[in-house]
Amino acid sequence: MTDRSEDITVIPATQTERALIEGLFQFYIYDFSALEPAESERFEPGPDGRFAAYPDLDSYWRDSTRAALIIRRGGSPVGFALINAVSHSGFPVDRNMAEFFVMRKHRRGGVASAAVRAILTRYPGRWELAIAQRNTGARAFWPVAVATTPGVTDLTTLTGDGVHWTGSILRFAIEG
Ligand SMILES: CC(C)(COP(=O)(O)OP(=O)(O)OC[C@H]1O[C@@H](n2cnc3c(N)ncnc32)[C@H](O)[C@@H]1OP(=O)(O)O)[C@@H](O)C(=O)NCCC(=O)NCCS
Repeated sequence: MTDRSEDITVIPATQTERALIEGLFQFYIYDFSALEPAESERFEPGPDGRFAAYPDLDSYWRDSTRAALIIRRGGSPVGFALINAVSHSGFPVDRNMAEFFVMRKHRRGGVASAAVRAILTRYPGRWELAIAQRNTGARAFWPVAVATTPGVTDLTTLTGDGVHWTGSILRFAIEG
């Protein structure tokens, strides 16, 4: 896989860049809609052709445990990440990768791997990352992306209880 570390930046979005996150979020949800069976009522667009907005996106600028990040390649936006401190396992966490997205055009070239390294290095602590069972791409991506990030320790994989979360939950730590 290509090492994109020098090409990729991950920087907190300003309030004025909020519209960029909102726009990319629409494509993120569209991707997730493809993982649902056709009879599912999840991820259907509203009458304006848009998916529902991310709940309480404002909190990612207001709450110090949260961050909205824009992933750029050579200066151009190619994805985003939202970090909060929500635990899917019930065990204590400092950080949780709530959402993470790379645009299709830029996939399979190491962009996400470089972005993950940048994010984990910038935000040390006890991390959690929940991977939906039916998201086969994410299931292939995350364990390797985390395990190959320098400084990651105590990596364990839990299985969600099927009520609060269906899929695996990666837990690990990274020192500041
Ligand atoms: C998952 C995602 C972030 C990966 O982004 P990416 O930039 O393509 O990832 P990378 O190029 O760094 O991939 C590194 C390795 O992960 C694995 N991988 C990544 N995507 C994969 C896929 N769809 N299927 C199988 N393996 C995959 C491969 O081993 C890849 O190395 P290779 O391309 O040399 O084979 C991207 O596909 C995405 O945004 N998906 C939609 C949103 C999503 O699922 N987010 C995660 C929510 S938990």
